[in-house]
Amino acid sequence: MNRRNFLQAALGLAAPLALTRTFAAGSTGSHAMHNMDMGHNTQAMGSMMHDASPGVYPPAGTPLQMPLRLSNDSRIKAQFSARINIQPATINLLPGTTTDIWAYNGILAGPTIEVTEGDSVRINVRNSLAEATTIHWHGLHVPPDQDGNPWDAIPPGASRDYRFTIPENSAGTYWYHPHPHGRTAEQVAMGLAGAFIVHPKQDPIPAQIEEKLLFIEDIRVNDNGAITAHNMMDWMDGREGNIVLVNGQYQPVIAIAPGEKQRWRVVNACSARYLQLSLPGHALVQIASDAGLLNKPQTRTAYLLAPGERAEFIVTGLAHGTDTRLLSLPYKRGKMMGTEQSQPVLLASLKYTAKAVKNTPAIPATLRAVTLLGDPAIRRQVIFSEKMEHGAGGMKMLFLINGKRFDMNRVDFTGKIGAIEEWEIINNSDMDHPFHLHGTSFQVVNTDHPLHGAWKDVVNTRPGEKVLIRFRQMLAGKRLYHCHILEHEQLGMMGILDIQA
Ligand code: C2O
Ligand code: CU
Ligand code: CU
Repeated sequence: MNRRNFLQAALGLAAPLALTRTFAAGSTGSHAMHNMDMGHNTQAMGSMMHDASPGVYPPAGTPLQMPLRLSNDSRIKAQFSARINIQPATINLLPGTTTDIWAYNGILAGPTIEVTEGDSVRINVRNSLAEATTIHWHGLHVPPDQDGNPWDAIPPGASRDYRFTIPENSAGTYWYHPHPHGRTAEQVAMGLAGAFIVHPKQDPIPAQIEEKLLFIEDIRVNDNGAITAHNMMDWMDGREGNIVLVNGQYQPVIAIAPGEKQRWRVVNACSARYLQLSLPGHALVQIASDAGLLNKPQTRTAYLLAPGERAEFIVTGLAHGTDTRLLSLPYKRGKMMGTEQSQPVLLASLKYTAKAVKNTPAIPATLRAVTLLGDPAIRRQVIFSEKMEHGAGGMKMLFLINGKRFDMNRVDFTGKIGAIEEWEIINNSDMDHPFHLHGTSFQVVNTDHPLHGAWKDVVNTRPGEKVLIRFRQMLAGKRLYHCHILEHEQLGMMGILDIQA
């Protein structure tokens, strides 16, 4: 029995806090997809508490669970050793149907890998799919030949070890997903993704503050519960699912005591869905971005998390009797074919428990010293563009970097170990594109950027926007950079940076 089935069995008798019939109108057409936008749910919120009608799976309103942790087989200190089987699995998403997915160890959302800075990591991966795949350790500073690049595929039925050491000062919230040549978008759409948390040896955030992971994925199924193939709109706009899951659960409930502080690690593992996070009534106190703590906590009213991005927040419980929802507010990202999100999407609800918490530990005013990288030795431009191509097979849209489509056998840039590079990412298109670089973390140089100076590996670019980043690569070999809307990456919005000793 997998975790989903187990959860359903365990919770089947408990009256779910909130149930909706959102899926009843489901079909694969774009109009129906729109009906399935969670706007309905927010309107229905008031009455949902009384609506005990069963029938929607996964049931909304179950307590948020943490994804299973990947267990460490090693007894040696500072050594993490584990096994991952990349395998087909079956879960229940819609009533009366089953959904065939692909999942790491059969678990949707996870398993979560948790290690500490300095650990040596060995993960034995078996590919039980009928096609080649890789695991890419998104954001981690691992050697190129351990980073799951498309030219290092694990053939079907084969296995391999990934080995790397977690560098000092790299604590943060990362994740892992497939990166095979030409099949990344489909494999992620089938359910392959998990969180990878790196803890520091000494955490400035007090240990009494409970940590919660919110690993957000969206999945698209038809009325029969089957994951549908990519359509034209998916390729153009990037694929958005019709079910948004947090830790594999649908609209779970997060319990928090009045006055209690919690540390939330939020991962946007969606292929193309932007999350404009909002927690009405609360400040979102951001303490970390993709690659660890900010210099100082920053209070946000809403926070845009682009595909691939992560953020950590401190959330403080409000008075018992009130209730709040974690929403993704409408955000227009310049879609070519699909309709823009017009209604808030309900991600999770907060439930304030009866017992208030006294003496909540304070968050330090300075979280860590962040100094900007100095003057660059190398400057480059990376220009995102889209182009319509008329060919024999009709029209197709090209997604380009510096006018070129990705070619696995071409090196686009050559760099040097340790040299500071400054890249100007220019979005010369009509759509948002989140830029991502492998192998290191970068800093946004633009002083007016909300994440100026923060250590990151994904940064969104709006149409017409220019974002300046600085970074250093400390290991030799080829690194990818690409748009993290996975369909765009796959259609060619990707390049290779070759770092030489
Ligand atoms: Cu998360 Cu190259 O990707
Ligand atoms: Cu990556
Ligand atoms: Cu893109």
